[in-house]
Amino acid sequence: MHSRSFNLAIVAGDGVGPEVTAQAVRVLRTAGELSGVEFNIHERVIGGAAVRAFGDPLPEDTLRTCLHADAVLLGAVGGPDFDSLPANKRPEAGLLRLRKELGGFANIRPAKFYPQLASASPLRAELAKGADIVIVRELLGGLYFGEPRGKDASGAAFNTMRYSEPEVERIARIAFETARGRRKKLTSVDKANVLETSRLWREVVVRVAKDYPDVALDHVYVDACAMYLCTQPARFDVIVTENLFGDILSDEAAALTGTLGMQPSSTIGGAVDLYEPVHGSAPDIAGKDIANPLGAVASVAMMLRHTFKLEQAAVELENSINAVLDGGYRTTDIRRGNEKLVGTAAMGELVDHAFADRMHHYAAYHAV
Ligand code: NAD
Ligand code: IPM
Ligand code: MN
Repeated sequence: MHSRSFNLAIVAGDGVGPEVTAQAVRVLRTAGELSGVEFNIHERVIGGAAVRAFGDPLPEDTLRTCLHADAVLLGAVGGPDFDSLPANKRPEAGLLRLRKELGGFANIRPAKFYPQLASASPLRAELAKGADIVIVRELLGGLYFGEPRGKDASGAAFNTMRYSEPEVERIARIAFETARGRRKKLTSVDKANVLETSRLWREVVVRVAKDYPDVALDHVYVDACAMYLCTQPARFDVIVTENLFGDILSDEAAALTGTLGMQPSSTIGGAVDLYEPVHGSAPDIAGKDIANPLGAVASVAMMLRHTFKLEQAAVELENSINAVLDGGYRTTDIRRGNEKLVGTAAMGELVDHAFADRMHHYAAYHAV
């Protein structure tokens, strides 16, 4: 008997997407079983895989399944086979449409330094030590969705960067709330010395700040922020920024671990929460069982915490990732010395076993 039952849509996508997603689903099943929660898993195609099967990167059935789910877990989409397709048939168009239909406008991308991975980071440990950042990326506005876009009669191409006050205000509120739950420091990143959208962004953030007098706010230009992420990453707590800046800065923040493979994300604020690792389909390493699944697995921890309020399971899953790293197990992307080399599936299995052990111990302890 399960006290609670939920529907999960799993869209693994392309390249390493299915490989890392399989490991995420493995720990998700364990979380369900050991928390007494039933997760009904509905797997659907998206991206290039869906183009191949149905000629559409986001088939109706996939969209419907996601819209009816309690949460969506996505692997990655895209790849060189699809790069010459028309814009609306590209795998990336499927992902962007899914994001828009689900409605989540706040993409939460934590990036932190793992002491165990100090040798994998290109940053010196004394500088990266203690870095623990959350990037709050606006996900449904800016250049990604602004109209008009296209080509004009002369053949020139154009996109539109557009932000309205309500769009900035809602993301600013999520960022202030996030900072409030942490070290109470928010950095708003913009290009207000050049762009009208950034000047509006700054004006609205300053206005919203009045409701959060306990949070220290500063403003940093995006170019300088890119530099500080590498030179003083520990100066940041929460960063809030527009869509494209957030895309770029969140990949840069992966320098803390030396790989994109560790980075998780959640997208909240819409009808259905969406969870995905920050990385893409990694065609250069796909199909070899070498991709790092920990970003996808850590995305499940975010899901357990945020959507399902299973805080204990989320903590145990994060601790299990740490325990496996403490044990010296590494996928190739985070291996620099003579640590134990493991593949994608083996890494997932190690974390899953550690997780199950911890959940059993917790249950036994609390039953006494
Ligand atoms: P990418 O994130 O796929 O890869 C960048 C680098 O990181 C590569 O060297 C890759 O090997 C490495 N990497 C990525 N994930 C890894 C993992 N789990 N473990 C170890 N190493 C990992 O970015 P890209 O090469 O610029 O793009 C490839 C394709 O992915 C493109 O089609 C792009 O549009 C798409 N993409 C999709 C998403 C998404 O679905 N959310 C995100 C980014 C890129
Ligand atoms: C990401 C990706 C996507 C984005 C692409 C694939 C549309 O880079 O999730 O970071 O730019 O948002
Ligand atoms: Mn990206």
